[in-house]
Amino acid sequence: MKKLATIIQEKIKSQGPMSFRDFMGMALYYPGLGYYTSGKERIGKAGDYFTSPTANNLLGESIAKQLVEMWEILGKEEFAVVEYGAGDGSLSSQILSWLKDNSRLYHHISYYIIEKRSSTDIKKEFIHKIIRADDVSQIPPIVGCILSNELIDNFPVHRIINQNGLHELRVSYTEDGFTEVAVPLGNDLKNHIEKFGIEIPQYSGTEICTEMAPWLNEINHILKKGFVLTIDYGDSGERLIQNCDTNGTIHCYHKHHVNRNPFANIGDQDITADVNFSTLAAMGKAVGLEYTGFTTQSEFMIALGLNSRINHDEQMDEIKVNTMLDFMVNMSRKLKVFIQHKAVNHPMISGLLFARRAVA
Ligand SMILES: C[S@@+](CC[C@H](N)C(=O)[O-])C[C@H]1O[C@@H](n2cnc3c(N)ncnc32)[C@H](O)[C@@H]1O
Repeated sequence: MKKLATIIQEKIKSQGPMSFRDFMGMALYYPGLGYYTSGKERIGKAGDYFTSPTANNLLGESIAKQLVEMWEILGKEEFAVVEYGAGDGSLSSQILSWLKDNSRLYHHISYYIIEKRSSTDIKKEFIHKIIRADDVSQIPPIVGCILSNELIDNFPVHRIINQNGLHELRVSYTEDGFTEVAVPLGNDLKNHIEKFGIEIPQYSGTEICTEMAPWLNEINHILKKGFVLTIDYGDSGERLIQNCDTNGTIHCYHKHHVNRNPFANIGDQDITADVNFSTLAAMGKAVGLEYTGFTTQSEFMIALGLNSRINHDEQMDEIKVNTMLDFMVNMSRKLKVFIQHKAVNHPMISGLLFARRAVA
């Protein structure tokens, strides 16, 4: 079978340099050969990185508590969760386990997952409770919450730099291997930058995620009333650009090591770009999703009772408590929780108790 790198190389040879978005899309999702579509285990000890739900069940429990409050705000009737990019299904199992033991919401909930990879590892007891869909067209309009954890940072992005003017970085191939070429910006990217007021200072780089708008359109279409709860790496547009050189925010993960070279291990390493939450807020507003709030994952979990959860767990010895705290400090501070709402009046959301960040 042809290697993915060869397929990409041949495409560049016949069609010329491709956008980084197309390269990243092929590297992650090319049928049968992409990072997430080859069927190989990617997350966890045997894979390349951990996500919060594959590290422990604390985030799942916090989200479950938050969902109970959202259900109460929405009138304690039927409530659906649509979890986008559910990975191996850990988060869905953790949420349903907690609800089963702690809340009547368990009896009212419908839980849908949408995932590009073919297999999931959902706990046996929840297999009949969770409905798998290929895309939102298979899900009826819902009242409830659209949930995602580390989904959007895997959406393919364009790369833009300012080096004596704005340029797009496209992917080319020479005898030395894959390389980037800077070309003048096309009209679509120019318009996007203008529309969302993205400032890119000289010798800085950023990414533009054109898949966010269609995704928001899709989820807005099925959400009659409720919330969108998005957890991901990223920040406001302003803070993202303050911390970037011309490499922007691209990070790659291979066997639990981070690198900045998207052309290494093609199809065998994860490629991510931090989420610009200011753009997400603006695009959401344009389709009818109101901004509720923005906070770090640590603050979200603490607001929902994480400290007492850890301190009162009799099964946790000192080592486990320290591992949990380590996780909190290292992982949860970089991850952000971003909430939007629709057809709900000024909802008070407990997970946003410590939110002090405007996202603009
Ligand atoms: C970083 S993993 C996170 C998995 C899981 N949410 C977790 O926290 O462990 C990102 C997941 O999003 C999935 N994904 C990316 N784009 C998607 C899309 N448009 N629709 C459905 N799943 C998608 C990938 O296949 C991958 O499993």
